[in-house]
Amino acid sequence: MRVALLILLGLVIGVIGTVNVMSTLGARHPMPKAVMQTMGYHMGELGHALKAKQCGAASSQHHLQRLQSTATDIVPVFGVPEKDFTDDASQLQDRLQQALQSAPADCAALAAALKPIDETCKSCHQKYR
Ligand code: HEC
Repeated sequence: MRVALLILLGLVIGVIGTVNVMSTLGARHPMPKAVMQTMGYHMGELGHALKAKQCGAASSQHHLQRLQSTATDIVPVFGVPEKDFTDDASQLQDRLQQALQSAPADCAALAAALKPIDETCKSCHQKYR
C-alpha cells in the first residue's frame, strides 16, 4: 500500500513538473515563429498582388506598414545578441521605412520596393535560420 502511494505521488509530481516545463517552453517559443509567420503572410500578400498584377497603393501601404511594425519585434523577441543578427534586423527596418516612403502605386514600383526587403530576409535566414 505504501509503495503504491509512493509510486502515485511520484507520478503526480512528474506530471506537475512536465506541465510546468511545457508551459514555460510554450510561453517562450511561439513568439519568434509568430513574428516571422506574420511577416511571411504580409510578404506573401504582396507577392500575390505582384503575380495578379493588382498592386493597389492602399493595399501595398497596408502590408508594408504591418511588415514594418512587426519587424520592430524581431530583436526583443528573438533575443539574439550577435551583431550580425541585430544589423540585419535594423537593415530590414530601414528598408521597410524606405519602401513605405516610396509609396509604391503600381506593380513595377512595388517590385522595386520589395527587392531590397527580400534580400534582407534572405540574408538573415542564410545565417540564422
Ligand atoms: C534578423 C534576422 C531575420 C530577418 C531580418 C528575417 N528573419 Fe525570418 N527567420 C529568422 C529566424 C532566426 C527564423 C527561424 C525561427 C525559428 O525556427 O524559430 C526565421 C524564420 C522565418 C519563417 C518561418 C517561420 C516558422 O514558422 O518556422 C518565415 C515565414 C520568415 N522567417 C519570414 C521572414 C520574412 C518574410 C522576412 C523579411 C520581411 C524575414 N523573415 C526576415 C530570422 C530573420
